[in-house]
Amino acid sequence: MAIHTMSLEETAQALVAPGKGILAADESGGTIKKRFDSIAVESTEETRRAYRDLLFTTEGAEDFVSGVILYDETIRQSSADGTPFPKLLESKGIIPGIKVDNGAKDLASAPGEKITEGLDGLRERLAEYYELGARFAKWRAVITIGPGIPSEYCLWTNAHALARYAALAQEAGLVPIVEPEVLMDGDQSIARSFDVTAHTLHAVFTELRDQRVHLEQMLLKPNMVLSGYESAEQADADEVAEQTLRCFYRHVPAAVPGIVFLSGGQTDEDATAHLNAMNALGPHPWQLSFSYGRALQAPALEAWGGKPENVEAAQQAYYHRARLNSAARSGSYTPEMEREAA
Ligand code: 13P
Repeated sequence: MAIHTMSLEETAQALVAPGKGILAADESGGTIKKRFDSIAVESTEETRRAYRDLLFTTEGAEDFVSGVILYDETIRQSSADGTPFPKLLESKGIIPGIKVDNGAKDLASAPGEKITEGLDGLRERLAEYYELGARFAKWRAVITIGPGIPSEYCLWTNAHALARYAALAQEAGLVPIVEPEVLMDGDQSIARSFDVTAHTLHAVFTELRDQRVHLEQMLLKPNMVLSGYESAEQADADEVAEQTLRCFYRHVPAAVPGIVFLSGGQTDEDATAHLNAMNALGPHPWQLSFSYGRALQAPALEAWGGKPENVEAAQQAYYHRARLNSAARSGSYTPEMEREAA
């Protein structure tokens, strides 16, 4: 089916088609600079273009990748042969998406907490992105766990903004990916991560309902329920799967076609193993898939190192991670597959 003629429901379902997930390549200028700093590559418009070009031209990735989230700069850039990135992706059957929030800023009168900005003028920006070829969108809210936080104020203001964005996206013909990310930094237990994630999802789905968002025409992009990264006690993959599923069964309506997890600083292998463990316990009311940034790109970024002669090795590394996450969609990933040739 031609991507540009699909209904919102069809697009949402295609994004979570069996064996497929989403590549998040929507790092903002600041974030991509951090990633490039880690491999000692200068972040310029051309290095950013070249890096995204290598990801998007990876042959066969379309067997595992249903959609790619782009950044404002990237959706306007082109492949080396002059083909605009959205056209290139669409020619492979990959749905172009776009990050539309303007980032998380300090929330007034709430030390340590954030609110995501970007609602002003959003209707007009969404219309332009639709013209540029985007068929889905993403907005990320950030919830921080700490002593006495998150506050109700932070949860509900972020949930309200997410729902306002989602309603506008649907009006513009774009499937909203609703991303409330509870950060897993800190030394909290998995039980505390569970409680905050549950509370966050409750606020988000209450606002989505109140603001008339069609659940059949959206995807949820949440964190998994993990032990805080600095906690002395780390839950294993089976417990992560069990706690994450328990939380989502309670709080995510079955009308939502898919849950596409973010990786959020997990190692690439953990992100794959955790998704696999959840799908091994299926079937579930929704598709359980991935929308990974770091966990899909880390080995490719390192293999590339900014050098044209490494493009092929980087593409192999990306293809390999995409293939393993595709296997995790059906619970058929095994750690032995990590060592198979890419
Ligand atoms: P990570 O998978 O690196 O967390 O990125 C996903 C994303 O899009 C965060 O907004």
